[in-house]
Amino acid sequence: MELLVWIVAGYLLGSIPFGLVITRALGLGDLRQIGSGNIGATNVLRTGNKPAALATLLLDSGKGAIAVLLSLAFAGPDVAKWAGLAAFAGHCFPVWLKFKGGKGVATFLGTVLALAWPVGLAACATWLAAAAVSRISSVGALAAAALTPLWMWFLGRPDLVVVGIPLAALIWWRHQANITRILKGEEPKIGKK
Ligand code: G3P
Repeated sequence: MELLVWIVAGYLLGSIPFGLVITRALGLGDLRQIGSGNIGATNVLRTGNKPAALATLLLDSGKGAIAVLLSLAFAGPDVAKWAGLAAFAGHCFPVWLKFKGGKGVATFLGTVLALAWPVGLAACATWLAAAAVSRISSVGALAAAALTPLWMWFLGRPDLVVVGIPLAALIWWRHQANITRILKGEEPKIGKK
């Protein structure tokens, strides 16, 4: 019962679409009609408003981290990893947007950082390295997602692989359109429309 309560709480927290809320509040238009149509920080950056993109990144990652840290404090690590996965799922399939949400990358990074900071740092470093080389946000996300279950295993948290694999699989699944564009050489570089 306790697990279910934290999963529902994590899901509802993860469902808050900060990218949409921030861009609407700033009068930047409907994010779903801009760029890739995604509700994440990469697409907010395409509006040209860097502080809005940074705020989206911090709030979308923060909601994953808060879901984990609260459940960790009150219910322990076995519950926290499922609450984090639920927050991530909430971002991808938010109840407030008829289950049409984002790709979950920032929420994934915040969740993993809060579950095990060395794994989270390795995931962020993977994102940065792949994005720096390719200049493409989705390449960073795909690389970070693919390697995170391995980071969990090799950095001493094999207990987290059970959530690392669905996190990675869902990120790859949500990036199908990006993968198609990458393969065609049509995926825009970071900040470009
Ligand atoms: O964080 C999402 C990113 O990996 C891709 O975003 O807007 O280029 O589809 P976007």
